[in-house]
This record gives sequence, C-alpha cells and structure tokens, in this order.
Amino acid sequence: MYQPAITGTGVFTPQQVITNEELVVAFNAYADLENDRNADAIAAGTMDAIPHSDTDFIFKASGIRQRHVIDKTGVLDPHVMHPLLRQRADDEPSLMCEMALDACHKALARAGVDADEIDLVICAASNMERAYPAVAVEIQQELGAGGFAFDMNVACSSATFGIQAAADMIRAGSVRKAIVVNPEICSAHLEWRDRDCHFIFGDVATATVLERSDDATGAWFEVLSTRCATQFSNNIRNNNGFLRRSRPDGLNDRRDMQFMQNGRKVFKEVLPLVSAHMLGHLSQEGINQSALRRLWLHQANKTMNDFIGKKVLGRTPEPGEQPNILQDYANTSSAGSIIAFSKYSDDFAPGDLGMICSFGAGYSVGSVLVRRH
Ligand code: COA
Repeated sequence: MYQPAITGTGVFTPQQVITNEELVVAFNAYADLENDRNADAIAAGTMDAIPHSDTDFIFKASGIRQRHVIDKTGVLDPHVMHPLLRQRADDEPSLMCEMALDACHKALARAGVDADEIDLVICAASNMERAYPAVAVEIQQELGAGGFAFDMNVACSSATFGIQAAADMIRAGSVRKAIVVNPEICSAHLEWRDRDCHFIFGDVATATVLERSDDATGAWFEVLSTRCATQFSNNIRNNNGFLRRSRPDGLNDRRDMQFMQNGRKVFKEVLPLVSAHMLGHLSQEGINQSALRRLWLHQANKTMNDFIGKKVLGRTPEPGEQPNILQDYANTSSAGSIIAFSKYSDDFAPGDLGMICSFGAGYSVGSVLVRRH
C-alpha cells in the first residue's frame, strides 16, 4: 500500500464577470418583454406576470456578489438569456477540454510533475459536453498523459468522489500519478430566465494532482482518508439526457432540461446530512473536531456553509477557518471546494489538518481529510 498525496492544484477562471447588478438588469428587461408580450393573458388572469429579481435578495439569500462565465453577452441579452457557446467541430478540442487544460497545467506546475508522468486522468464534473468519447480521454491526449482516463459525474460532489477514486488507486498501486479535473460550465445548464435560481452558478475549472507521497516534492498534503456517501433525492435534478427528444412538447424549452431545485428542502435536508458525514468521518479517524485548522467546503450558499462550519467545528468558525469564495465565483458545482483549497492552503504548517468537503445532487457528499506534510 502506498500513501496518496495531493501535490498541486490549479484553477482556470474565465475572464468575463457578471455582477448581480448586471444580472438583475438583464433579467428584469427580459421579464418586462415577456410581460408586455403576454399582457392580455396577464390582464385576463390566465397567466402570472414574471416578477422582477432583486440584488439585495440575491446577496442576502446566497452571499454571491458576482460570477465568472465563459460568455456573458448571451446571458445578458434579454432576447437570448443563455450563454452563446459555439459547438465545437469533431476535430478541435471541446470547450471542457480547453478549460481543463489550463487548470491541469497550473496544477502540474505547482506539483512539479510533467504531464507525461500522469497515468490517470479523471474528468469529474456535473455535466458533460457530450456522451462519448470521454472528455477525460481527450484531455489525456491533449496533455500528453499516459495510462488511462475516464469521466465521472456525481454533480457537485464530483471532485471529492474523483479524489477518492484516484487516491484509492494510488494506495493500491494501480496508478502512480493522477490528475482529477473539474471543468464546470454551469452557465450552460442554468435557467437564466428563472429568478429563483438565475443567480446561483458560475463557470470555472479546477484540477488536483495526486501521487504517491514517496514521489512528492515541494509543499504537499497527505490524503489521510476519504469518505463518500449518497442518498437518493429529486430535490436537485436535471432531466437532460439521451431520451430528451421523446417528448413532443418542444425540444429546447422544457424547464426540466436545465438545473431545477427545491431550494428550501435542499437547505433543510442537506445541512444535517453533511454535518453528520463530516463529524462521522472525523470520529472514524479518531480525530477531534478541535484538531481541524480549516474546512474547505462546497460553495453553494453562505448561510449553509456558515451553518456546516459551526456544526463541524462546534463553534462559530474564526475568519480563515472556513473560507468562502462564492462571493466572487458563485456556486461552481464540484469545483467550489477545490477553489477554496487551492487559494487557502499555502499558509498551512507541517502537521496541520483540514477537511475538503463537497455535497449536492444525488444527494451526495464526499470528504477528504488532509494533513500538511
Ligand atoms: N429576487 C427577488 N425575490 C426572489 C428571487 C429573486 N431573484 N428569487 C426568489 N425570490 C422570492 C421568492 O419568490 C420568495 O417569495 P415569496 O416568499 O413571496 O414566495 C422569496 O423570495 C423567498 O424565496 P425562497 O426560494 O424561499 O428563498 P430562500 O430564502 O429559501 O433562498 C435559496 C433561496 C435557493 C438561495 C436557498 O433556498 C438555498 O440556498 N438553498 C440551497 C441551495 C443549494 O445549495 N443548492 C444546491 C445546488 S448544488
């Protein structure tokens, strides 16, 4: 058995930013256009007017101030209301692959590992640009990595589930160096015309290099253990899939082909699930909560993260003990906890302990206990 280690992380941040203010102006212009178009039905009481969105509500409900996206022009055009992303030809890299490569190169540089030393690529994300060939195999080729590659999807928990898969293979000796990459184009599966959720997501890609601790150089973290758990729920759901053409009532305008959630139920049900999971993981390892220096949590909602931080640490986290990045990035699905880890782990001293945890649709929750070497 070998000891797995995280030796580098990288973040690709798209250049374009949408502030809450820009988002709300676009949404409200869209709502006005639709309400004008449907004025007669609204006046007759057969249709509800679309209510305006509000920047104060968005910040209070979520803690989000802005989000990075691949394309803001389409999202902010009230006649379009979705990103304009060019479908790639078969002989050019996919968009996910392009984003992934940027994050992978940064992670490899931090780890001091050459791409051709990698013998496992896992592309773990909440939505794939195509069914097959696996995006991970394309990334493997473009990187010049060896070994094998595969895609996996556990929604917002994809990164931690991917880390568990890679760490277990390193532990067993079937691979030596792995990269887990999370290209999340959340803007493409968000319904920007729904005010209940139009503020939630942003785009990003993260990458994590794992290898045997015997090979590790520079600043690295031992992966002490990982825990994954799932429990079925329909409260976060996206029905897009290969049967999508079977309904005669419109191909492109079915609300259920994008992200849908029952936000209040998610809030109520996921909080106890995640807190119990993290505390259970710690107790199985015989580690007291007071020994943790930091939590790098999935970035869905500030109130949720504050609550989980308090439950897991047994007190209100001090500044820096549970860093949030969602004010700048919004919810970036599986990538959120890795952005937080990547940006807020350099100050760890040898022996410091921390836990990465992501959670979301499924329901699913994954935790990774790390110790700075
Ligand atoms: N602007 C203004 N008002 C809005 C609004 C917007 N953009 N969106 C919703 N509202 C309104 C609602 O219509 C509702 O009005 P009502 O009380 O008259 O019915 C009111 O604000 C409260 O809406 P609600 O959806 O109940 O808000 P909330 O306080 O529960 O917050 C979430 C909504 C989604 C932010 C919150 O439920 C949440 O964070 N859930 C978990 C999200 C999550 O982690 N999802 C996982 C994805 S991976």
